[in-house]
Amino acid sequence: MIGTSQNRGLLAVARPTALLAATLVVAVLASAPSASAATTLGASAAEKGRYFGTAVAANHLGESGYASTLNQEFNSVTPENEMKWDALEPSRNSFNYGAADQIVSHAQGRGMKIRGHTLVWHSQLPGWVGSLAAADLRTAMNNHITQVAQHYKGKIHSWDVVNEAFQDGSSGARRSSPFQDKLGNGFIEEAFRTARAADPAAKLCYNDYNTDGQNAKSNAVYAMVSDFKARGVPIDCVGFQSHFNAQSPVPSDYQQNLQRFANLGVDVQITELDIEGSGTAQADSYRRVVQACLAVSRCTGITVWGVTDKYSWRASGTPLLFDGNYAKKAAYTSVLTALGGSSSGGGGGGSQACTATYSETERWGDRFNGKVTVTAGSSAITGWTVDVTVRAPQKVSTTWNGTPAWDSGGNVMTMKPNGNGTLAAGAATSFGFTVMANGEWSTPTVGACTAS
Ligand code: G3I
Repeated sequence: MIGTSQNRGLLAVARPTALLAATLVVAVLASAPSASAATTLGASAAEKGRYFGTAVAANHLGESGYASTLNQEFNSVTPENEMKWDALEPSRNSFNYGAADQIVSHAQGRGMKIRGHTLVWHSQLPGWVGSLAAADLRTAMNNHITQVAQHYKGKIHSWDVVNEAFQDGSSGARRSSPFQDKLGNGFIEEAFRTARAADPAAKLCYNDYNTDGQNAKSNAVYAMVSDFKARGVPIDCVGFQSHFNAQSPVPSDYQQNLQRFANLGVDVQITELDIEGSGTAQADSYRRVVQACLAVSRCTGITVWGVTDKYSWRASGTPLLFDGNYAKKAAYTSVLTALGGSSSGGGGGGSQACTATYSETERWGDRFNGKVTVTAGSSAITGWTVDVTVRAPQKVSTTWNGTPAWDSGGNVMTMKPNGNGTLAAGAATSFGFTVMANGEWSTPTVGACTAS
């Protein structure tokens, strides 16, 4: 071992600079994953009897990284904007299905489920709707639902029939909208009955945000669903959008809240999941959401609100599972692991004990910082080993939160824990290092994680 460091202590070490770089191979030290462990989000969710979906935008389907990530990882899609009222019926009785149809045929051709989003919503509503008087508005609403649901009849797994009809805050009241203000509370029930008649096979959901834990808003939705079930109003599912960040973290009673709705006799779905943040904290929050869904038998699937951070509606918060280059983030590994999947694939015997994920955290004119997140698999571990290979003439100058050892060529760093070796099932830690580029900016290669 050439040296150890922590807290950015400098490694002042001369290492041979033989021209080994081009053919560096990392020893594969992986503990063997299970032969049956699925290697994608969709496949591992399917093994748990669930789907794993994403919001998609038609105008990105032609981008190869976007399409290949979508096709490989997800088995359900939700059009992010293309099935909203302003997209489908911008002027009265003139329907415009082009972009939505594109998503539907992309999904159908690949056996993906489709969530329809959304038939009745106060937002992205064309101006002509808001100016109608009550009777005409009722006709227009029912016509919109009927036309759209019939156009996609038999193709939609679940419809968000009504979206975001309740106010935030403590009132538990309905949100003001043309529908609420002119038709009253009954518009929601009417929308569900009309949707059922138009496509009897689709599951009909009520979908909202800030309803993820028990609070005044979710209590109001709960009361409505309970009333609908008691009176035979056709409702099959409740969607929990689950847009989280530091101000609105995953609630501590998330699972209990999903369960209380499921106990009313409806399915629950996580419909627009995204969690602002990065690294271990983000990965942990994603893990909690997945574990909560898996713990509720009527939680039938999870949809994240986008494929890649770069196209997220809140891109600056990097809330998704793939970064702007479609690289898998620590959050991805955490979700896959929580679903029982394995990022290495193949092999036989035992489940994968840990995984390692690389990200670059900072860059300067002469150097960059790398971070490796180590995530335990479905069992607790007491130690781990990860190899990181840099390409000569790169040199690792500093490390932290780990105990490094070096191969004779000085390019392969074998990192072991420095007090952070014990991880609960699904839990994560990280170590970091600074790479002096010396003109070579290629990304370090991170080998498999070996647990002990
Ligand atoms: O496509 C037009 C483009 O032609 C135009 O140049 C540009 C100028 O603003 O606008 C583009 O449309 C935008 C559209 O996203 C597509 O990017 C709209 O302005 C913008 O308002 C729209 O935002 C969407 C938002 O809903 C609208 O409320 C987001 O993409 C979408 O992620 C977001 O999704 C909602 C769910 O439907 C309901 N739950 C909350 C969730 C997040 O806000």
